[in-house]
Amino acid sequence: MNFDTDIFTLYDKKWALLTAGNENDFNTMTISWGGLGTIWNKPVATVYVRTSRLTHDYMDKNEYFTVSFYPEKYRSILGVLGKKSGREMNKMKDSGLTPKKAGESMTFEEAEVTFLCRKLFVQELKTENMPENIAKTMYAGQAAHDMFIGEVVEIIS
Ligand SMILES: Cc1cc2nc3c(=O)[nH]c(=O)nc-3n(C[C@H](O)[C@H](O)[C@H](O)COP(=O)(O)O)c2cc1C
Repeated sequence: MNFDTDIFTLYDKKWALLTAGNENDFNTMTISWGGLGTIWNKPVATVYVRTSRLTHDYMDKNEYFTVSFYPEKYRSILGVLGKKSGREMNKMKDSGLTPKKAGESMTFEEAEVTFLCRKLFVQELKTENMPENIAKTMYAGQAAHDMFIGEVVEIIS
């Protein structure tokens, strides 16, 4: 992975897993929206999670989360984890990946790289603050996204 040149397509094309919780109780889901950058002089990862996702509950409850990226051969697993909720399947046991501790959070052995993040900021993306066409196409009858910004405290590869 080339972080110098691929930064804008990293989430969008490669996808990632967003994971929160501990080894006894965690959840994970596929994400393709997000960013890596800087705020308040800290390196940060930003993710956008609809309030309807089970992972959102885990993001609320936990101080840490991870964003992890995978080799192409795991694409179909990421597809399943992005389609099925942890309410319908046991994502701790049946994800097809091998859970692994990452500091105070969780990731998977198969990850090429994991960003361990400490939650810094959460805010709802209010439809009145976005272009009308986006509000209509993305949010009509659908749950809002919350933006979570996490300080990247460790990069595990
Ligand atoms: C490629 C892909 C990208 C996705 N990106 C996001 C995202 O950035 N934010 C989000 O809230 N949901 C996203 N989703 C949807 C969630 O991954 C999906 O609803 C998942 O089943 C939620 O699981 P959970 O209920 O166990 O948290 C994406 C799904 C796919 C397949």
